[in-house]
Amino acid sequence: MKVSARPRHKGGVGAPVPHDSAYGHVDGGAIYIDDMSEPRGCLHAHLVTSRWGRARLKRIDTSRALAMPGVRAVVTAADIKGTNEVSATIPGEPLLAPEFVEYVGHPLAAVAADTPELARAAAAAVVVEAEPLPAVLTVREALAKEQWVLPPMLMRRGDDPGPIIAKAPHRFRGDIEVGGQDHFYLEGQVALAIPQEGGMEVWSSTQHPTEVQHMVARILGLPQSAVTGLVRRMGGGFGGKESQATHIACYAALLASRTGRPVKLRLDRDDDMTITGKRHPFLLQWDVGVDGHGRILAVDMLLAANAGWSTDLTPGVLGRALSHADNAYFFPHVRLRGYGCKTNLQSATAFRGFGGPQGMMGCEAMIEQIARSLKLDPLAVRRINLYGGNGRDLTPYHQQVRHFRLPAMLDQILASSDFASRRKAVDAFNAANPVLKKGISASLVKFGISFNKIDLNQAGALVLVYEDGSILLNHGGTEMGQGLFTKVAQVVAEVFAVDLDKVRLSPTSTAKIPNTSATAASAGADLNGMAAKIAAEAIKVRMAAFAAQHFDVPESEVAFEDNHIVAGNHKIAFADLALHAKHARVKLSEAAYYRTPDVHFDPKTMTGRPFYYYAYGVAVSEVAIDTLTGEWKPLRTDILHDVGASLNPSLDKGQIEGGFIQGMGWLTMEELVWNSEGRILTHAPSTYKIPSARDLPRDFRVELLPNAPNEEASVYRSKAVGEPPLMLALSVWQALVDAVAAAGGGGAPRLDAPATPERILGAIARLRESAMAGA
Ligand code: MTE
Ligand code: HPA
Ligand code: MOS
Repeated sequence: MKVSARPRHKGGVGAPVPHDSAYGHVDGGAIYIDDMSEPRGCLHAHLVTSRWGRARLKRIDTSRALAMPGVRAVVTAADIKGTNEVSATIPGEPLLAPEFVEYVGHPLAAVAADTPELARAAAAAVVVEAEPLPAVLTVREALAKEQWVLPPMLMRRGDDPGPIIAKAPHRFRGDIEVGGQDHFYLEGQVALAIPQEGGMEVWSSTQHPTEVQHMVARILGLPQSAVTGLVRRMGGGFGGKESQATHIACYAALLASRTGRPVKLRLDRDDDMTITGKRHPFLLQWDVGVDGHGRILAVDMLLAANAGWSTDLTPGVLGRALSHADNAYFFPHVRLRGYGCKTNLQSATAFRGFGGPQGMMGCEAMIEQIARSLKLDPLAVRRINLYGGNGRDLTPYHQQVRHFRLPAMLDQILASSDFASRRKAVDAFNAANPVLKKGISASLVKFGISFNKIDLNQAGALVLVYEDGSILLNHGGTEMGQGLFTKVAQVVAEVFAVDLDKVRLSPTSTAKIPNTSATAASAGADLNGMAAKIAAEAIKVRMAAFAAQHFDVPESEVAFEDNHIVAGNHKIAFADLALHAKHARVKLSEAAYYRTPDVHFDPKTMTGRPFYYYAYGVAVSEVAIDTLTGEWKPLRTDILHDVGASLNPSLDKGQIEGGFIQGMGWLTMEELVWNSEGRILTHAPSTYKIPSARDLPRDFRVELLPNAPNEEASVYRSKAVGEPPLMLALSVWQALVDAVAAAGGGGAPRLDAPATPERILGAIARLRESAMAGA
């Protein structure tokens, strides 16, 4: 039979179309908040921040600042008419410090003036007197003092691991510290508040416009209906604008309300890095019992996060760290304890992976220790502990691991990356070279998809078809570069079988879609794509019924294809049908709602099914280190990643590459340094290094797992992609451990992250010392 390729609309689901702003990002056509025309009378804001790590405020004198010409307002906690509380979770986070400042950079007042320069000068003229108090900066000190931002967490399954570990053939205790990470979004935090009749409109570079709406209303003492949160796009968020963009929006709104004029607050890079929170640094400590093959019998792990001064999203982050401390492995008996340690630093917050990477790091460091101590191949130890079959499929939070794709994916990547022969080549290289050493390692990633706070798994969309056949798409998700808007538009184009350019994207607005969740947890396309699909399908059903009636054919003979509607022998352009339908009084708009089915979780017992499904990935990385300087280079990375049936393979590849590189930066080069008073010293690109084009693996091969539709009923059987690939960078850290072990003459290296040249040198030195001591 001859297969005739039917003409198809352009840019539907699965098409590798470019990001909707790809050209706009290059030619400047993509408008960010600081590019918007400033409304008449727009003022500019600057924040007055603490220079103490912890102190009791005694006096804030704003008179000199207020006397400066062009300065329009200075506000402190006393000027907040509503409630001075902006915590995303457990209350205890005032917008402006009322009495105590708790870190260097803590905002205690805000200034509005005619120009940004004037606002900065006026902020410097505010006189603050305070009584300094002792500050706690490290996780170890906070742990010792039992100083938390939330009650400790406990996750357990099976028997008490203590006695099992004690009786196990082998027992290993170890710990590792992993550092934080600055989001380093290209567009810093920014908001523009515009007073409205009896309310406020706030444009914010936020992942969470509803929280902006909610908190601005609270600070101003207004009902939420009087406040609109808006965002067209962010120049990156990476979690840094999930909760903390809210504060920036609130300062702008507070000053706008005070002055009756529009106010813009845009933090410069140094202020942004000094004031806002970062990825949580973690201390991970384990006690594990294994048999002679390295098979895990029981695990007892402590996960302590440096949460900074306030709770923020630490409950979710710590919960996700605990629920990823198993990574891809079955722990027969397990106890995981989580501590959110309160310190006098910026409040740590969401960052791509949301605690998952830190939990998985503890797990993989433990596996490395087991394998190297027992002189086993780390890959063999990973394999023997994988989930799968025979009752070995329950996670520490009692969710059953179903459709576990990793064993097959591991085989595939080992073959396609030529792992076995390269392993031998690396060993041969190391035997022949005293100064340069190579390392190679394979990693597995299993990442749970859904918000671990169940009520956040909901979304809305509003689809409007106009009488000319053009379509306006609104949904509750936000665009931060990840391509969400493109993907959701592809879903709508697919439903109507129209070209993607017929679907126009609207800025996210709380006035269009209420009560949204943050665009986070990688669930943006899953949630908003599904809501938009439901909305579009409802309109399509009405249009199809109308077409059947209009052409007098049964509804079963109506089909949408290639920008047309076919009804029996009739064919009509989508736009023409829309016009007829409008005249026939057919409703051409729909607001729809979606919530993820089947997920549940009890935060008290920390059990349930928090994740609708898992996203999987495997990677093989090879590195070379210079044992004289500690410098290293990524030589080659192969990735095979599971995105289900991809909504857009080119966007998905971009997410995988970007996520991996961001993870590599976190684990190897991005180092946050605070001085003994808690002042951050790495507050600009001069001192804080993120990976650049030169830091990529020389040979970088990324593949999507083919023919792998999601077993769960996700949108077009796709899988979330935003965060999981970040953790594939563990393969680079593991390869560095492999190289360090070779340099040190064997043994189990301890390599904290970020694995900077200094830490690599130190790890080699320690191995060599212990080899000497042992000899
Ligand atoms: N990709 C780009 N380019 N910029 C970003 O800010 N954020 C990441 C990821 N990919 C981010 C990104 C994070 S932290 C998340 S949770 C997801 O995108 C959010 O978007 P999604 O749910 O639509 O995948
Ligand atoms: N990811 C991001 N944000 C969240 C989550 C999550 O899993 N849970 C609650 N807020
Ligand atoms: Mo992403 S850390 O869930 O914003």
